[in-house]
Amino acid sequence: EAPASCPSLSSSGKCFPWRVLESGGSELDAVERGCGQCEVDQCDGSVGYGGSPDESGETTLDAMIMDGNTMEVGAVADLRRVKNAIGVARKVIEYTKHTLLVGESASLFAVRMGFPYEDLTTRKSLSLYSEWLNQSCQPNYWKNVVPDSSKSCGPYKRREEVTSKEEQTSSQRSVHNHDTIGMVVIGVSGTVASGTSTNGAIHKLPGRVGDSPIAGAGSYADSTAGGAAATGDGDIMMRFLPSYQAVEYMRMGTDPTVACQKVISRIQKYAPKFFGAIICANTTGSYGAACNKIPGFTQFHFMVSSPLLSRPTEQVVDCI
Ligand SMILES: *[C@@H]1O[C@H](CO)[C@@H](O)[C@H](O)[C@H]1NC(C)=O
Ligand SMILES: *[C@@H]1O[C@H](CO)[C@@H](O)[C@H](O)[C@H]1NC(C)=O
Repeated sequence: EAPASCPSLSSSGKCFPWRVLESGGSELDAVERGCGQCEVDQCDGSVGYGGSPDESGETTLDAMIMDGNTMEVGAVADLRRVKNAIGVARKVIEYTKHTLLVGESASLFAVRMGFPYEDLTTRKSLSLYSEWLNQSCQPNYWKNVVPDSSKSCGPYKRREEVTSKEEQTSSQRSVHNHDTIGMVVIGVSGTVASGTSTNGAIHKLPGRVGDSPIAGAGSYADSTAGGAAATGDGDIMMRFLPSYQAVEYMRMGTDPTVACQKVISRIQKYAPKFFGAIICANTTGSYGAACNKIPGFTQFHFMVSSPLLSRPTEQVVDCI
């Protein structure tokens, strides 16, 4: 749905991440700046503060950043009361030997690193939340509970009999409920960095973490092969490590577009109606994307900046 790669244009009409590279910043700096700008701009409502309130009305953030030279990853999930999730993820690389920090403890770490506590709730997120309450908490992510989660709000209890029927339709977990900024940056020397930032699935259960902050799922970068970043229904996509898989296909010499398509096809076999898309780029700067075709989502738009293009260009692929 959303353009996947240029959160905002600078006054010169260039992507912020591109300007970072031009002014001598690293690929990692470019990813941090690009995703960070999206957090400030609340891209698409699905990145940054004030979007996707969870079941209790709170906005929480997930982000990751990956250095394809060293294979280091920094990530935060279920981050609360701190706006610059990708910035905190970068600090996980720089100031810890860990990869992923979560929840309140990630927020405490952020404060130690100098990030301010801020309220992530806005008038917009409050109204999304109250509308949802007013429509009997629909849609939500529960199953096999009483009262019936397809009709009523909780609190829920487990139902005695558990059915395995997958009730959820793709239109319910719709195109607008799941989005992410995902970014892959390839430097002139073929150095690869990638990152993601999101506020997750709207009306998720508190504590839910999707694909975005998980290395190999939300994104993956390897300067010896390429980079990829995914968006969509993270609960399904993260089971397939799609970004890792795409990079491995490119390592074997597969064209980036084909690598992206192969990843989507694999998931299709198990979840024909999943909502999702992936972008892929190899170390020589060829790139492509693919998405799963479902009602209401037949094309995927993404942004590309490159020395071969005079300005950032929106590109479109037809879903398969
Ligand atoms: C709740 O929904 C009803 C209709 O279902 C509507 O009339 C009412 O204005 C809504 N209230 C709020 C606060 O959105
Ligand atoms: C990147 O993909 C292009 C297009 O398929 C291909 O020509 C090129 O050789 C690939 N680069 C590498 C390093 O595999």
